[in-house]
Amino acid sequence: MGDEWGLAERLDKAGANWGPAAGSFADAGWRKINLPHDWAIELPFDSNADTSHGFKPVGPGFHANDVGWYRRTFSLPEADKGRRLWIQFDGVYRDCRVFFNGFLIGHHESGYSGFRYDVTDLANCGGENTLAVRVDASEFEGWFYEGAGIYRHVWLLKTSPLSVEPDGIFVYSQFPNNVPEGPATINLEALLKNAQTNAARATVAWEILDPQGKTAARAEQSQELKPWSAEAVLQQTEVSAPAVWSPESPNLYKLITTVTSDGKVVDRMETEFGIRTLAFDADKGFLLNGHPYEVKGTCNHQDHAGVGSALPDALQYFRVQRLKDMGDNAIRTSHNAPTPELLEACDRLGLLVMDENRLLGSDAANLALLEGQVRRDRNHPSVFIWSLFNEENHQGTATGARCAETMQRLVHSLDPTRLCTAAASEGDVFEGVNSVLDVRGWNYHIGSEDSYHAKHPQQPEIGTEQASTLCTRGIYAVDKQRGYMSSYDDTGPGWGNTAEAWWKVYSARPWLSGGFVWTGFDYRGEPTPYAWPCINSHFGIMDTCGFAKDNFYYYQAWWSDRPVLHLLPHWNWHGKEGQDIDVRCLSNCEEVELFLNGQSLGRKPMPRNSHLQWSVKYAPGALLARGFKAGQAIAEDKVETTGAPAAIKLTADRTSIHAGDEDLSVITMAVTDDRGRVVPVAGNLIDLDLAGPGRILGVGNGDPSCHEPDTFIPAQKSHKIALNEWRMKRVPNTRRRPEVRESFDDSQWDKADVQTDSGPLAPGESAVFRTRFAATPQELATESIAISFGMIDDEGWVYVNGHLAGESHDWSSHPSFEVRKFMHEGENIIAVAVHNWDGPGGMNKGVALELSDKPEAVHWKRSAFNGLAQVIVQAGKDAGTLHLTAQADGLAGASIDISSAEDSSQPLQP
Ligand code: GAL
Repeated sequence: MGDEWGLAERLDKAGANWGPAAGSFADAGWRKINLPHDWAIELPFDSNADTSHGFKPVGPGFHANDVGWYRRTFSLPEADKGRRLWIQFDGVYRDCRVFFNGFLIGHHESGYSGFRYDVTDLANCGGENTLAVRVDASEFEGWFYEGAGIYRHVWLLKTSPLSVEPDGIFVYSQFPNNVPEGPATINLEALLKNAQTNAARATVAWEILDPQGKTAARAEQSQELKPWSAEAVLQQTEVSAPAVWSPESPNLYKLITTVTSDGKVVDRMETEFGIRTLAFDADKGFLLNGHPYEVKGTCNHQDHAGVGSALPDALQYFRVQRLKDMGDNAIRTSHNAPTPELLEACDRLGLLVMDENRLLGSDAANLALLEGQVRRDRNHPSVFIWSLFNEENHQGTATGARCAETMQRLVHSLDPTRLCTAAASEGDVFEGVNSVLDVRGWNYHIGSEDSYHAKHPQQPEIGTEQASTLCTRGIYAVDKQRGYMSSYDDTGPGWGNTAEAWWKVYSARPWLSGGFVWTGFDYRGEPTPYAWPCINSHFGIMDTCGFAKDNFYYYQAWWSDRPVLHLLPHWNWHGKEGQDIDVRCLSNCEEVELFLNGQSLGRKPMPRNSHLQWSVKYAPGALLARGFKAGQAIAEDKVETTGAPAAIKLTADRTSIHAGDEDLSVITMAVTDDRGRVVPVAGNLIDLDLAGPGRILGVGNGDPSCHEPDTFIPAQKSHKIALNEWRMKRVPNTRRRPEVRESFDDSQWDKADVQTDSGPLAPGESAVFRTRFAATPQELATESIAISFGMIDDEGWVYVNGHLAGESHDWSSHPSFEVRKFMHEGENIIAVAVHNWDGPGGMNKGVALELSDKPEAVHWKRSAFNGLAQVIVQAGKDAGTLHLTAQADGLAGASIDISSAEDSSQPLQP
C-alpha cells in the first residue's frame, strides 16, 4: 500500500510505465495475498473516519490508506500464441489503472461493474507476464461500507481467434401467452468474433441438457463471418414439457454451445439457464410461471463479518441459504451490480434477484456500464427484473424521466424478457421516472400506495425498499450509550417502519407484488440512529454474521410454509425477579399457549401477520410456548434461565470442504452453560488456533459497537537502508565492463554523491558507480532484499557481486530489483554501469536496500456478543484436516475438524 509511486503512468511512451507498473519491479517483499481482498477491513476503526462507511480510515481525509498496488506474475505457454487473451475483472473498488507487461491497458472508475481487456498483442507467450493494478479508494461511490481493493475475482480468458465473444451467449425461453404450457421455445444467440484476416465459415451447435443431464434439444446454424468482424448467430429450438425454474424448484438446464470452423472445434461454452415466465400485472402483481407470486425479499449490501466486501464464493452461498431459511424468496442487489457468483448461488439455491444498476444516467459511460451488466447477467434465471438506480436526485424531474426512458429502452433492446423498475423514494408522485418506468418501485412512503394505485391503475408496482427496522440481536432495551436498539420489533426511523407495519400493508395488496426489506443482513456503516462508537447498521433481520435477530422469525412465520414458533426475550433477567417482562411470541400457529415454570399463562389466537404479547412477572426457570393448529400442538419453543458461562461449543455450516484456496466453512462459536445451553448474555473473549492446510479468514460477532479486529494480518516488517559512499569512474561504454566485477579496485575512483537531483555525466558519457554493503546473517535471513533507485539516467545495468540483477532503460522509472539471491555474508559489491544519452545524467535521487522479513504468525481472537461469535475458516491449496481450537479463560475449550478434500469440478465460468 501507499501512493509513493503516484499513477506510475508515463504519458509520452507506451509500455514504459514505471515503479510497480513495470514488469521488472521487485515485489518479493510485498505481502502475499489471495483474492478476493479488501484492505479497508484490515484497518483499525477510527472515530474521525466516515460514519456511513463504518469508521474505517479510507476515503477522503485518509491519504495514507488511499492507494493499493497489486501485482501478479504468471507464465503463459508457447501454445497460447495465436489465441485471444483477456484479463477480466469482476469488480475492483475503485478507480483502478491496470498495467500488463508495463503497458497501461485500462483505467476503470466504477467500483462495482465488471470489465475486461484484450491483452493478445501484449502477451509474452512462452514466458513471464506481469499484471499490475493500482487501486485508488480515495473517493466514495455510496453511503455504506464499500471496502477497498480487488474484492472480486480476476480471470484470464483464452479463446481461439474465432470464438464466442465474452458474455456473447444469450439464451431465453418463451411460451405462447407467457405461461409455461406446452413446449418452450428456446431462443439462442451466440455472438461470434472472427479475429482473423480471412473470412471464415462457422457452425454453431447448441445442445440443451435437462436438469438430469439428458439431452433435451439440439440446434445448429452456420454463418459466414467477415474478417475482423463480430456477428450474432441466431437460432431457435424447443424443449417439450420443461421443468420450470422457481425459487422453490430451481431447475437448471445447461446450454452447451460448440463452435466449429474448418472441421475443427474452435470454442465450447457451458451456460446454465432456467425456463420460466415472468410478468407483472397491475392488479395481480408479479406473476412467476403464470401465477401470482408474492415477492418476499431483502435488500443487501456486499459486506459480511470478518471479510468486508471480499466475499469468497462459498460465503455467497452461505448468505443465500440463510435468507432462504428465513422464507425470503428474493434479493435486491442494492445499490450496484452484483458479483456473478451471487447470481449463480441464487440460480442454484433458488432466490429471485432484482439486479440493480448503480446510477441514473443516459450518457455513454453510464449506458456502457448498464449494457455490460445486462449482457453479463441476462442468462441467470434468478434475475426477474432490472432496477435502474436507487434514490437519485433527479428521480422526480423531467431530466430524470428522459434518462430512465433511454436506459429502459437500452435494457429492452438487450433483454426482451424482463421489465425495469427503480428504487425511487417518492410517494404519490407520477412526475419524473415514475411516469416512464415499466414497474413503479416504492422505497418507503407507506400510506401513499392506495391513492397512487387509484390514479395509475394500469401501472404494475413493487416494494423496492421497505422497513429499515432498527434492532440489535439479543438486546431488549434501547441503550444509547453502547449504541444498541431493542430487538422487539418496535422502531423504524422516520422514513421506515417496523416489520409488522409494512408487511401488513403489502400482504394485503396483491397489486404491490410484495417487496424488499431494508436489509437481510446488517452491514458496516449507517449505524442509524447512532454514530461513534456504533460502527454498523441495525437494519438487518440478521446481524453481520448472519445470526438471526428476533424479526427473523416474524418473517419466517409469515413468509415460509413451515410451522414457526419463537419466544422472546431470553430468560436471564437476574435482579428483575417479580418485575414485568414484555414477552412476545412470533408464530404462524393458529393459537399459542404460554407457560412459566409449567403454569399456563393463557392461550391466545394468533392474529395474521402479527405477534402475541404477554406481560410476565419474571421468575427464573423456563418459559415455554406451545403452538396449535386445528387444536393439535404442532410447535414448541422454550427460553430458559441459564447458568454461568462454562464452555465453548463449535458448530460448522459444513465440516467437509474443497481444497484449493477458495472454499470455506462458517463456524459458530457459542458460549454455553454447564448444560450446553447458550448463555444469551455471554461476552467471553475466545482465543483461536488453526492447525492444518488452511487459514482463518476473519472473525465477527454481530455487535454493532465492537471495535475488535475482524482480521489479523501478519505484520510485515521491512526497513530501508540508504546506500551511500559511492565511487564513480567514467568508462568508454557500458558493455562487458571489468569494473562491474566483484573484485575490482575502485579505491582511487572519485567519490560520487547519488542524492542530488541530476547526475555528473555529460551527454554521451558512460560511467560505472560502485559501493559496498556489509551484510549480517540476520539481514540475509530476511525474505527479500530489493535495491531501489530514485533515478538511473538514462540507462543502467545493475550488478551485485558481479551478477547482473537488472537493467533499466528509462530515466523516469524508479527501478527496483530483487538481489537477495546474489548476496552473501560480509562485504557485497554493488556496481551500476550507466550511460547518459542527453542532458545531465548519472545515478541520483538516492539508492536504498529494502529488507523485508517473513511475516510473523498472528494470534486470532474474538469476543462473543450475546452468546455468539463467528469464525470463517478457508481451505488452503492442499487437502487435509483443518483443526480449529477455541479457548477462553474459565471456560472448557472446544475444537472442531473440517476436512478439506481435492475437488475435480471446474468453476462454471472460464
Ligand atoms: C434508504 C437508502 C438505503 C439506506 C436506507 C436506510 O433510503 O436507499 O441505502 O440508506 O435508506 O434506511
